[in-house]
Amino acid sequence: MGNYYLTTPIYYVNDLPHIGHIYTTVVTDTVARYLRLGGNQVRFLTGTDEHGQKIERAAAEKGVTPLALADRVVSRYHELWDEYGISHDDFIRTTEERHRAGVERIITRLEAAGDLYQDRHEGWYCAACETYYTEKELQPGHHCPVHETEAEWRSEENVYFRLSRYQQPLLDWYAAHPEFVRPLSRFNEVRSFVEGGLNDLSVSRASLSWGIPFPGHDGQTVYVWLDALSNYITALGFGSERDELYRVFWEPQGAQRIHLIGKDILRFHAVFWPAFLMSAGLPLPTTVWAHGWWLRDNRKISKSVGNLVRPDALVASFGADPLRYFLLREMVFGQDAQFSDESFIDRYNSDLANDLGNTVSRLVNLSRSSFDGHSPPEACGSNPLISVAEEALGRYHEAMRELAFHRALASLWELLAAANQYLVAREPWKLVKSAGATAAVSRILWNGLEASRLVATALLPFLPRTAPRILAALGLLEPPASFETLTWGGMPLGVELPEPSALFPRIDKEKYLSGEAVQPPPPAPPAEEKKMISIDKFFETQLRVATVTAAEKHPNADRLLKLTVSLGEGGSRTLVAGIAQQYEPEALVGKQVIVVANLEPATLRGVVSEGMVLAASVDGKPVLLHPERPVPDGTPVK
Ligand code: MSP
Repeated sequence: MGNYYLTTPIYYVNDLPHIGHIYTTVVTDTVARYLRLGGNQVRFLTGTDEHGQKIERAAAEKGVTPLALADRVVSRYHELWDEYGISHDDFIRTTEERHRAGVERIITRLEAAGDLYQDRHEGWYCAACETYYTEKELQPGHHCPVHETEAEWRSEENVYFRLSRYQQPLLDWYAAHPEFVRPLSRFNEVRSFVEGGLNDLSVSRASLSWGIPFPGHDGQTVYVWLDALSNYITALGFGSERDELYRVFWEPQGAQRIHLIGKDILRFHAVFWPAFLMSAGLPLPTTVWAHGWWLRDNRKISKSVGNLVRPDALVASFGADPLRYFLLREMVFGQDAQFSDESFIDRYNSDLANDLGNTVSRLVNLSRSSFDGHSPPEACGSNPLISVAEEALGRYHEAMRELAFHRALASLWELLAAANQYLVAREPWKLVKSAGATAAVSRILWNGLEASRLVATALLPFLPRTAPRILAALGLLEPPASFETLTWGGMPLGVELPEPSALFPRIDKEKYLSGEAVQPPPPAPPAEEKKMISIDKFFETQLRVATVTAAEKHPNADRLLKLTVSLGEGGSRTLVAGIAQQYEPEALVGKQVIVVANLEPATLRGVVSEGMVLAASVDGKPVLLHPERPVPDGTPVK
């Protein structure tokens, strides 16, 4: 048991979150929940990185102030983390006063150490990374190695940090701390980068107003990475009078300070950040864990590449837990993995609906029907499942310590498989029929239920909403607050088992992939209970008249049409609409329709849809809406 401080990167607010941001945050949440259940003191931080050129430009493009853009994106992050059951203790924004004060304090220390000086800087700059690259690091045509977009040549007077001074201290630190960067392959990359020599680092920008003014250097703004990395300690109150958290979670020798990040930002965390901390005379993180990328068609999923996956539809239908499961089961932490709806559905159906959901519901149903709505009255003494469970849980804990989530989950599924084999070999359903609810039936079912209880308990960090539901189905209405119950023998005898509800209803893969809803939407509340919204909220939706200029069948889905529409001065857009079974594409060309013009783009079966066409829904079938007479394209609908 100990003190753990876990952090995600703080995310840029130039755009809405996508699967990559979700992944790191879900991973960190799973670790935080696991450690808390193990009785540790845990502090979990996430937040947003709101300064810098990238944000300034994105806000200008959208015609809003950077802070207004940040506010909008931050509220989406809050909603999303709620939806995903993220249990962070704090959410820091770099535009907060508590952060600015802390950054100034750190810079004062760098200055006092003699590590800052002013000089001219020239080089190739990627605004998406907010970093300079050498010619050697760039791809042909001066393209950024991460974003594949063209870097720009910059020349300006900046404040420099004497990073070169820290080459040897960093190498010595790495040698003395073999856990500093995980996995090991990434540590080797970092080490060889530092061995290759370190240039001093420009830590201010002259041509940027959206940032923290650089203390002691008029006209300069703090470089966004120095600003951002500092969040890990400013959020704990470093530099302020209220620094109790800093003293508990960062300062003590034995505190575990763990940064979870993607491999794209490893250099910042494993080279620059420790060098800043060394210069400031502050403790270093204990471990930087870098995971791989979610890819689509072998390219990193990112806003700049333009191949985003935002799994809103999946989460709206199935809740976030199945996606959490998929992300943690499918990716080997540290390596890259491909994201696709197909593989999500396959995993869901086989692992969650079949192995987990069916096993639990079969056992609960049989127990209820045999023991008058109750769990079995008699437990089982020695039996082969006990050692299987102990070994599986041993492997689970071992894997969790290594952040090998896929292995931790695989070992729980081995226990499920063993429980199933055990049941199939003994066929309690037949015994009930032939001899009634005997003590032998009770013992067999109890064993199966006990194995399910252990699996559900060990799944609490992974499935924060459904694992408690599984436990409730087993008669344990209060989920445990610690892993003390994660040992064989806790399944209660003779307690009432509630009527089970479907835990993971099977998904019809074909239907889902063809764009059809696969689960009925939740019933609408009665009219008087319907949630009212303000007029302002309504006007957040931009409705516009548009003319269909082209229409064709979607290449990969029978129910979808791909439309091109003109919004007049608002330009032309591609929309994907689920109307193929009611409308022939040719008949739509020239027609005016109403579209939602400010909807986030979504990729539907491989085609990006930049809005939505409005239709009345008659028994679930669309009937398109048209203006009563022709009006100019782009006309607002109010
Ligand atoms: N603001 C910086 C981080 C500052 S931390 C002091 C930043 N922000 S970001 O919004 O671009 O988020 C980057 C992080 O998002 C990655 O490190 C990773 O955690 C996650 N991901 C973004 N795209 C990803 C994938 N395609 N796959 C997996 N995770 C990736 O960088």
